[in-house]
Amino acid sequence: MNFQLSEEHVMIRKMVRDFATNEVAPTAAERDEEERFDREMFDHMGELGLTGIPWPEEYGGIGSDYLAYCIAVEELSRVDASAGVVLSAHTSLAGWPVYTFGTEEQKQKYLRPMAEGKKIGAYGLTEPASGSDAGAMKTSAREDGDHYVLNGSKVFITNGGIADIYIVFAVTDPESKHKGTTAFIVEKDFEGFSVGKKEKKLGIRSSPTTEIIFDNCRVPKENILGELGQGFKIAMQTLDGGRNGIAAQAVGIAQGALDASVAYAKDREQFGKPIVANQGVSFKLADMATSIEASRLLTYQAAWLETNKLPYSKESAMAKLMAGDTAMKVTVEAVQVFGGYGYTKDYPVERFMRDAKITQIYEGTQEIQRLVISRMVTK
Ligand code: CAA
Repeated sequence: MNFQLSEEHVMIRKMVRDFATNEVAPTAAERDEEERFDREMFDHMGELGLTGIPWPEEYGGIGSDYLAYCIAVEELSRVDASAGVVLSAHTSLAGWPVYTFGTEEQKQKYLRPMAEGKKIGAYGLTEPASGSDAGAMKTSAREDGDHYVLNGSKVFITNGGIADIYIVFAVTDPESKHKGTTAFIVEKDFEGFSVGKKEKKLGIRSSPTTEIIFDNCRVPKENILGELGQGFKIAMQTLDGGRNGIAAQAVGIAQGALDASVAYAKDREQFGKPIVANQGVSFKLADMATSIEASRLLTYQAAWLETNKLPYSKESAMAKLMAGDTAMKVTVEAVQVFGGYGYTKDYPVERFMRDAKITQIYEGTQEIQRLVISRMVTK
């Protein structure tokens, strides 16, 4: 067993850390305040190869692996969780199903421009009345000659409005329950597709989240992803990897909060000494660091399993469960270390705390992770 990162992973970590420090961090607070996504920043991620980390070069990627991808999401989230989730949804939720289930033509047409960062990807599963119970979706797809006609709407779509390509799940056979769902690749310019309400959120505010609407949206049959009726499984398998990206995001948020807390605790003096000299503070930092390391190990393990084509559904659910709870707990503690200053926008820890909450909710709530894990450990 070897816990050391490879030279390639260390190099990618350094490259993303430099990019995050120099180009993402300086505007993170301002973009959060203005709820503004920065397309130029995403384009630069594309130029650096970050938008296609795990995909082979023949599909426009850099031919690395899922661990490198998780490290990239972690490093971005360490300064800006919004940048982290934009990359995570783009790679795991849109790129992954096309890479795994797409035809050669679909990979060249859709995966390549996503990997190169020329197009942004998104994933549409959740509906107003179908969240945790993903199988209860209502969006329908009716066959019409060489097209399917989609009707319905999807909500809480990460990268909604900025994405060019949407992986959408719709019911093609209402009688067949889970086996009656099909995945489609939908382009933003398809007739009948539109972007609805943009959510105003507590955190990850510079990552857009919108509704997407299908009003007799015509999707050519060649844009079916995988097979007819295979959609629910594609959705679930996609989320297995996606959850690991969110675990990496949570690890990054928590690490950012710890870094800020350590620096502040060493600098801030009260009662004639730095506050870090009090065990009430230093033990907090020790607990924060320990939970982060445990979360990181679970996350890297799940990424390693995926890279090595071993089962990872349970491990990625565990990683997200642990890392999401860690991010929430650590960021609340970080605000406490900063005291009154932590509650203001002069320091980044209040933003980290607001951003952390979503990691306990999206890509399956913590309760759904427990459901997935408990089903697997008791079967
Ligand atoms: N891999 C492959 N197949 C799977 C699977 C997996 N991980 N999970 C389930 N399946 C298969 C089952 O084997 C079963 O197949 P058969 O019919 O052949 O037996 C079928 O799918 C149905 O499975 P279940 O009976 O387990 O389905 P369920 O209705 O009980 O639901 C669930 C399972 C785990 C609760 C699922 O609904 C779920 O994950 N819910 C949460 C949804 C979610 O995470 N949403 C997040 C939205 S995306 C998002 O948040 C993105 C973002 O913003 C960044």
